Amino acid sequence: MESKVEAVGILGTGRCMPEKILTNNDLEKMVDTSDEWITKRTGISERRIIDEKTPSRELGIIAAQKALQNAGLSAEDLDLIIVTTATPDYLTPSTSCMIQNGINAKKAAAFDMNAACSGFIYGLTVAQQFIMNGTYKYILIVSCEQMSRVTDWKDRATCVLFGDGTGAAVLGPVEKGNGIIATNIGADGSVGRSITIPCCYSNDEDREKRVNDKINVINMDGSEVFKFAVKVMDSATRKVLDYAGVSIDDVALIIPHQANIRIIDGAAKRLDVSKDKIFVNVDRFGNISSASVPVALDEAVESGRIKKGDYVVLTGFGGGLTWASALIKW
Ligand code: UT7
Repeated sequence: MESKVEAVGILGTGRCMPEKILTNNDLEKMVDTSDEWITKRTGISERRIIDEKTPSRELGIIAAQKALQNAGLSAEDLDLIIVTTATPDYLTPSTSCMIQNGINAKKAAAFDMNAACSGFIYGLTVAQQFIMNGTYKYILIVSCEQMSRVTDWKDRATCVLFGDGTGAAVLGPVEKGNGIIATNIGADGSVGRSITIPCCYSNDEDREKRVNDKINVINMDGSEVFKFAVKVMDSATRKVLDYAGVSIDDVALIIPHQANIRIIDGAAKRLDVSKDKIFVNVDRFGNISSASVPVALDEAVESGRIKKGDYVVLTGFGGGLTWASALIKW
């Protein structure tokens, strides 16, 4: 099949966040922590928590419908749905298949992928290939996360950090010179044990690391991940800029994975970029894993912080460990 597509871009974005807000003051009543510690060490003031009876795909369906509407497309136009998640409702059926049914995207193929918090940018990279090579025209990416369901609410080292939410984007062909200019994705499995959420298998080390009996919860070596994150967001971003011959001064906005304001500040310092060029919502949502970047992107578009022709960098890191950056001309 011969490709006639010269560039692939984001045609529309959407998000859907749970209504329930969990504040630092609420957490003070649950574990030995303080608003002061959480704010100072992470920049997080509150996070959203999904309702007990709601599966995350339901929020994902709303985010997907908004993204389609903003793209001026309908579900029947979609050729493929990629869901990025480290916290699916079921191992099977995949969340993507359930969203395909929920939005009635009859002709779309569907699969889930897990690159943890780097998932959305991994998803962009995969979707771009399918469209560039002419296999598909329109692809929906939905990032669905329900971190509260893999959180040990008695472990203060992790329970203050995460939140729930969903973000979506529709990709398709755009004019030459626009859209996704470059991506850089990578992984280092040798340090993968620094973030674990056991699923169908666990060993003695996994059990020893957990505070309570619950095994299918997150455990993290925070400071290891912190050092890794600052380094890889800097290097992956430099790689996409170098590849495109674009200077950091020409970038209008950087949307980093929202895990900790100190990680974001550290990466900004290494990149030598001023804080007003960095989008931040970690204070309101905490770390929502792969949904973090598309939710921030949708907020940035909605608030007018991204204009046509702007260079935008998306960058993230996460479990695996993985990292990813993308340079987009909007
Ligand atoms: O999306 C990818 C997923 N992960 C991340 O992005 C996480 C990256 N890492 C981080 O964001 C930071 O490392 C954390 C926020 C997790 C921790 O911050 P830190 O500055 O590295 O703190 P620490 O782990 O070195 O802990 C410092 C102290 C310890 O007490 P001692 O040993 O100094 O007495 C902890 O026990 O803070 C204590 N501590 C807390 N105190 C109050 C840890 N968690 C809490 C808490 N409230 N929630």
